Amino acid sequence: MTYIYFIGFMGSGKSTIARLISQRLAIPFIDIDNEIEFQQKRKIVDIFQEDGEEVFRLYETKVLKEITDKPLISTGGGVVEKNENINYMKQNGIIIYLKTSFSEISSRLAHDHSRPLWKDDTNKQALFDKRIKLYNQIADFIVDGDKLTLQEQVNEIIKYIR
Ligand code: S3P
Repeated sequence: MTYIYFIGFMGSGKSTIARLISQRLAIPFIDIDNEIEFQQKRKIVDIFQEDGEEVFRLYETKVLKEITDKPLISTGGGVVEKNENINYMKQNGIIIYLKTSFSEISSRLAHDHSRPLWKDDTNKQALFDKRIKLYNQIADFIVDGDKLTLQEQVNEIIKYIR
């Protein structure tokens, strides 16, 4: 099976867009963060707090690699933190990057408390800069999340994958 991986920074709309495509094309979809929460029976914030980021990354890789029956995969923004994940996605599917600017992300996540790495005491801009380099490098297809509406992004992606 060829998988379609949605990548992008926190708040770029990966899950929303993957879900809309899933509904439009009747193709099964999975959100890696949701699956981790389901398996761990804990929220991501609690996993980070109790186990730390390094252990969270192990859960993330495990879930990424165990998906077999869901072609549309919404990843967490930090999936690119491990070369192992990047290589796995490259080998197994198509990578779609939902490109969204730092200012757009900042306004979308202004009141978000569900993301442990989006906090006042982290250098969000540095994290963003580091990540977007990787997203750009590994993407097979890029959609502009600042200029296009959700529906336009969905349409562009459907045109590309069909
Ligand atoms: C993370 C992004 C989150 C989640 C976790 C870590 C990251 O997913 O996996 O909080 O390192 O960027 P979203 O991109 O869906 O917010």
